[in-house]
Amino acid sequence: MLSPVVAGLMRLPEWGLSTSGLVGWIEEALALGITSFDHADIYGGYSVEAAFGAALDHAPGLRRRLQIVTKCGIKLVSPRRPGHGIKSYDSSRGHVLASVNESLRALRTDHIDLLLLHRPDWLMDPAELADTFSGLQAAGKVLAFGVSNHRPDQLAMLHRHFPLAAHQVEFSPLQMQALNDGTLAQCLDLGLQAMAWSPLGGGRLFRSDDEQSRRVRGVLEALARQHGQAPATLACAWLMRHPARPRPVTGSGRLQALQQAVAAMSLQLPAEDWYRIWQASTGHEVA
Ligand SMILES: NC(=O)c1ccc[n+]([C@@H]2O[C@H](COP(=O)([O-])OP(=O)(O)OC[C@H]3O[C@@H](n4cnc5c(N)ncnc54)[C@H](OP(=O)(O)O)[C@@H]3O)[C@@H](O)[C@H]2O)c1
Repeated sequence: MLSPVVAGLMRLPEWGLSTSGLVGWIEEALALGITSFDHADIYGGYSVEAAFGAALDHAPGLRRRLQIVTKCGIKLVSPRRPGHGIKSYDSSRGHVLASVNESLRALRTDHIDLLLLHRPDWLMDPAELADTFSGLQAAGKVLAFGVSNHRPDQLAMLHRHFPLAAHQVEFSPLQMQALNDGTLAQCLDLGLQAMAWSPLGGGRLFRSDDEQSRRVRGVLEALARQHGQAPATLACAWLMRHPARPRPVTGSGRLQALQQAVAAMSLQLPAEDWYRIWQASTGHEVA
């Protein structure tokens, strides 16, 4: 359902693109085989979906060539949502339905391909949420559902009420919790599509001078020279090497960065190289 690399739109406001510029960017991504685009209702303070929707409106036929992932469940205090009194999570039927309807309106589309519950809501009633998801699916408004940033037990509880399709978590050579807490194993076990947000540590991998970043960068650069690829390609190849085959969700607006992520698809990292990066990240060898 998703392309092997997914383009994230969280940073769209930083890219300074006009509507026709965004159409051009989407076309370039599609030409690279990136057909899935990751949103959340809250990105850009509730503005990014509408910018993307304007691009879809500008280029008839574009919508049919791509998949839209979006998220709901975080409430920001914003002039665009005057009813929100405090930053909080909300997985109630009323909020999820209202959020999906707003997303459909902003994106100027009749369906969302994949809807994710953005964060675990401690007040989530899994039976109510499953019923809400079923209704949205029956209405054709959302094709598939998943979660983001959930613990494996939280995902398992909801999955017993409704068949989830995806789990989007932070995963990169700088953030390996999904390896250790059972998240990726659970995706494999249940046949869920894993998605890796901040695959380059939100840019920390290349821009930060902290010890872990320097260690990992050093190994990535050495391996990049060996493989004749960019260090960012090695970072994506590292996370895609896991048998759950996580889809990197890129964060850059630069075409070259998208190309570097796509190049990882044809790079099968030898297991020892994978462990070299693991060792650089943890700062120690395996037990
Ligand atoms: N589910 C969630 O809770 C959640 C949370 C966060 C993000 N996300 C999703 O994940 C997507 C990606 O997150 P992210 O933006 O943090 O991903 P990322 O790809 O790890 O980081 C992107 C940042 O890295 C910089 N960068 C990329 N390549 C670089 C290079 N070679 N050298 C120096 N800097 C480089 C980019 O700057 P340039 O633009 O200059 O390349 C950008 O600022 C988001 O758009 C969103 O869709 C989801």
